[in-house]
Amino acid sequence: MISKFLIGLFSLTGFLLISTYAVAAQPKGMITTVEMGPINPVMVKSGKGLFTSKCAMCHDLDQKRVGPSLRNITKVRKPEYIMNVIYNTVKMQKSDPIFKSLLVKFNNVPMPDPNLSKAQVRTILEYLRSVAK
Ligand code: HEC
Repeated sequence: MISKFLIGLFSLTGFLLISTYAVAAQPKGMITTVEMGPINPVMVKSGKGLFTSKCAMCHDLDQKRVGPSLRNITKVRKPEYIMNVIYNTVKMQKSDPIFKSLLVKFNNVPMPDPNLSKAQVRTILEYLRSVAK
């Protein structure tokens, strides 16, 4: 009885480990469309927090730092591009002509992948929309 229970427990644990690994190892798809409505203040707030902790050391809104200033980024780039730069950083460094040319302009310092979820990246986009003038 107990051994049956243990076997069950082990196979469940094994299954969970394997499925977690399978999900984690899945390649992240490129973002092809971004739905945007009126600026959502709740998303802006969490995006601002993430920007402060994950991006501000390299990006100021108004001044060039390690990376370019980002205040009006939503006016000059498409939302899909912005999301992919943050969500699929390495892939974009290899494939996107604009992002590739920026890499050269910024002394070949490659922006590191911030390792955020798609939902988190979307809140950063919302924050960037809110700061544009
Ligand atoms: C270690 C420094 C660093 C960090 C941290 C960083 N970036 Fe970057 N970022 C760069 C650099 C440098 C570039 C210019 C392209 C390159 O060299 O890879 C860049 C480019 C970009 C661009 C493209 C700008 C354009 O004009 O097309 C966006 C958007 C961007 N970063 C957003 C972010 C966001 C949002 C975060 C936080 C989640 C972040 N970055 C974190 C260094 C950084």
